[in-house]
Amino acid sequence: MKTIAVIGAQWGDEGKGKIVHLLSERADVICRYQGGNNAGHTVVTGGNKYVLHLLPSGILHEDKVCIIGNGLVVNPYALRDEMETLKEDGIECTSRLFVSDRASLIMPYHLELDHAYEEALGIGTTKRGIGPAYTYKYARMGVRPCDLREVSYLERIVGLALDEVNATLSGRFGRDPLKLSDVMETLDEYARILEPFVADTSKILRQHIDEGRKVIFEGAQGVLLDVDFGSYPYVTSSSPSAGGILTGLGIGPKMVGEILGVTKAYTTRVGGGPFPTELEDETGEHIRHVGGEFGASTGRPRRCGWFDAVCTRHAVRVSGIDRLAMTKFDVLDGLETLRVCTHYRIDGKETDEFPANAERLARAVPVYREFKGWDSIAGIRKYGDLHASCTHYTEELERLLGVPISIVSTGPDEKDTIFRERIAF
Ligand code: IMP
Repeated sequence: MKTIAVIGAQWGDEGKGKIVHLLSERADVICRYQGGNNAGHTVVTGGNKYVLHLLPSGILHEDKVCIIGNGLVVNPYALRDEMETLKEDGIECTSRLFVSDRASLIMPYHLELDHAYEEALGIGTTKRGIGPAYTYKYARMGVRPCDLREVSYLERIVGLALDEVNATLSGRFGRDPLKLSDVMETLDEYARILEPFVADTSKILRQHIDEGRKVIFEGAQGVLLDVDFGSYPYVTSSSPSAGGILTGLGIGPKMVGEILGVTKAYTTRVGGGPFPTELEDETGEHIRHVGGEFGASTGRPRRCGWFDAVCTRHAVRVSGIDRLAMTKFDVLDGLETLRVCTHYRIDGKETDEFPANAERLARAVPVYREFKGWDSIAGIRKYGDLHASCTHYTEELERLLGVPISIVSTGPDEKDTIFRERIAF
């Protein structure tokens, strides 16, 4: 099978953008299957840095087909802005970007609701309307690109949604209600922006697969933010896990070949929720500073901590990850001792399970194993040239996680990457 999935095996921000961009050189089609413009995939190429939110990271290679699947929630304004930024650098999306006619649109009231609910729930969302857009999709009051020219349908469905939205916004949160006519105007603009790109992407993708083209399924966020398998309720509202690929693109399970997970050599998370190995000390501050750990979408400082093998093992299992790419080893340069959480102690008992309940996860005390650090491996491009402590760390993590670490990344540039084995797809 000439397809590969690249998915986050932590709480997002693992460096998927760089890995997808690198693998894209050999691919024909790159697809996003879930999430929206809450993502921030950073790619450093040719001396330029790009942060992609909604467009697949493969878009930077001009000959690649890119697909935004039905599993996404799409804000057409964000899409337009992103395409315009790329255009300034001479990167054109027209005729090779396809947006599913069945994707869900982020409506102006989803943004309002995300802001309002955030005050009550404290999840620490990106406030891009992601959660409410998925909520309305599953409540069967969503709007999709295929609906945009069906005016009477739109008026009925948006009218129904607004009855609920306005009752919540004004009744519960004391905010101004939204008018149907204003929303309809926005939808007219949405239609104009999306029209050149809307297609039955499941059909297009299937044709590419049948004709033997190489396809990458690009995950956003990470398994620990998955609505089913993450640290619920401190999660996003989609399925970054491998399962999301099938429903988010409209293909069958046999069409997903290799599953490549991406992690950092340590752990970060942005937003609220339990994080057992979090370092709220000088070392955490050091990692944040050296690693530039600030949200690529929101600029928020990321919480930093030691590598947690318990939660990554969980991610490996629930997504059937075959092998891993591990990034940002260089950020650990100069630390004398490194720690890796091998299991948790919860309520006095040792466990190697990632708890389903967030309160229980919050009570998890990490049990650490210590490793010797290394001086500097930044920018090293051969595995054999890495410091022995670094290869020892890598190989012990492989053992703890039960899957090979096939790619080691030693810096932000695409060239600072060691392929320990050929990634076949
Ligand atoms: P939402 O996806 O905006 O609803 O946010 C829900 C949670 O997921 C929050 O903790 C966010 O910080 C987190 N989140 C969403 N997208 C990303 C991402 O791309 N990287 C890391 N965290 C994310």
